[in-house]
Amino acid sequence: MSLTIALSKGRLLTGAEALFTRAGLSFPPQDTRRLIVETGELRFLFVKDMDVPVYVEYGVADAGICGSDVLLETGSDVLAPLDLGYGHCRMVLAAPPASGFAESWPTTLRVATKYAKVARGFFETRGLAPEIVKLQGSVEIAPGLGLADCIVDMVETGRTLRENGLDVVEDIAATSARLVVNRASDHTKRAEVASLLEKLKRG
Ligand code: PRP
Repeated sequence: MSLTIALSKGRLLTGAEALFTRAGLSFPPQDTRRLIVETGELRFLFVKDMDVPVYVEYGVADAGICGSDVLLETGSDVLAPLDLGYGHCRMVLAAPPASGFAESWPTTLRVATKYAKVARGFFETRGLAPEIVKLQGSVEIAPGLGLADCIVDMVETGRTLRENGLDVVEDIAATSARLVVNRASDHTKRAEVASLLEKLKRG
């Protein structure tokens, strides 16, 4: 097999290692800072989560693992043939308890998020065009500090929201880890891609 796989070092990495190990596939050791690691049968690239589908869309990687939240945000032109069955989270709109947003939206609104496109789409369907403040993480502190009225972010256990004084106002999407595949590789490396898919499905 001679495939290049893009992974992120974020929260989906432990599940990816467990999945590859169960599938009988090699996986890079975690004691290296190298960002390109060859294991013999596979080559792995370690990139930021939002960049996984970018490397796959442009064919630098044949396949990758990212959350479906990342696919919603980037809108990358990749195949997503497999829900890997782990990394389940919710994308939510959250706000301080006294916001009243569950009842009605104010006419002016500032939303902090890593997911600007998803947030814009969510409010568009409600006829609203809030100001979006794009952040790279730790979004939960934005309302308390006056940077935004509410946030769009991921929730896994709910602990980060709770400990930063926010309530879920609305669920936007249920998300999980996905295998993504480059459209050209799906043809030119058909046998290798099919074998990877088969092993991961069994794993
Ligand atoms: C995610 C998300 C929340 C947190 C939710 O952040 O953005 O901050 O996890 O998890 P919980 O519901 O279990 O508390 P992540 O750690 O992926 O880093 P980020 O802040 O860079 O997005």
